[in-house]
Amino acid sequence: VNISHANSRVSAVLPTGESVEVLLFGATVISWKDRAGNEKLWLSDAAKLDGSKAVRGGIPLVFPVFGTAPNHAATAQLPQHGFARNSKWEFLGKSSSESTSSTNPSDASIKLDFGLSSATLDEKSKALWPYTFSAIYSVTLSTDGLSTGIVITNDGKEAFECQVLLHTYLRINDITKVEVTGLEDSEYIDKVDGAKTKSQSGTVTITGETDRVYTPAKGPSSPIVVTEDGSTAFSVVRDNLKDVVVWNPWTEKAAGIGDFEPKDGFKNMICIEAGSVSGWTTLEAGDALDGAQTISY
Ligand code: BG6
Repeated sequence: VNISHANSRVSAVLPTGESVEVLLFGATVISWKDRAGNEKLWLSDAAKLDGSKAVRGGIPLVFPVFGTAPNHAATAQLPQHGFARNSKWEFLGKSSSESTSSTNPSDASIKLDFGLSSATLDEKSKALWPYTFSAIYSVTLSTDGLSTGIVITNDGKEAFECQVLLHTYLRINDITKVEVTGLEDSEYIDKVDGAKTKSQSGTVTITGETDRVYTPAKGPSSPIVVTEDGSTAFSVVRDNLKDVVVWNPWTEKAAGIGDFEPKDGFKNMICIEAGSVSGWTTLEAGDALDGAQTISY
């Protein structure tokens, strides 16, 4: 396993060729490639990777608020999707399991850990959200797929409420050929239709701007599968994250997002975002929230 840590990013390559690259800014995964070198994540051509703005693409981390919450006093002042994706995370180190067989290197994996806490958070964010916390984000690359998991601990004396989401931009070839299964018979909040609560019948297809918060009826370990032309492109299994946001900006919304390039790039992406964002998770003093996703293809 080959690791490099330079230029404010950490990257890792498995002996079989799979790779991952993580920016310290936001602990944002900006690239994940299979062994043939095919990129699995969508990243905007205009994404800012210099820390001036949250990254448009890859896997930004949403915490402690999803969207904005004007009626939730503790997070009302925070920027959209919170501060995690705009904060400089620390690289805490790696643990790898090398294959013991040189003829069969296919069981190697590597885990990269990143940390953010109230001790390392910038003063501006701290002033807006004064709780004492620590977060560890682990990105694990294996020959089977990519897992990303977060543990958030309340290290203070006061309880806080939070939301967390892994805002994953999956790269696909043609959105019109995509079908999402695993959300059948599930309730969702339709953010493009006045936040009405609706019920999904059948699979999900994308034919226009889509912004929905699903709470899948089937439970986290039942996969959300993205198929393209009938064959599996991705399968997402969640651990302790009850919700799944499905987002595609389509033509007009993409046109209005400055860092979304190319403008027809919405045809090549679908966000399947595992999280806990309908309602709030309360963390009492000393409590921790632990959630993860595993994406395979
Ligand atoms: C999704 C939200 O998770 O993120 C959408 O449901 C939002 O409402 C999208 O538009 C992108 O957000 P941002 O802040 O990265 O432009």
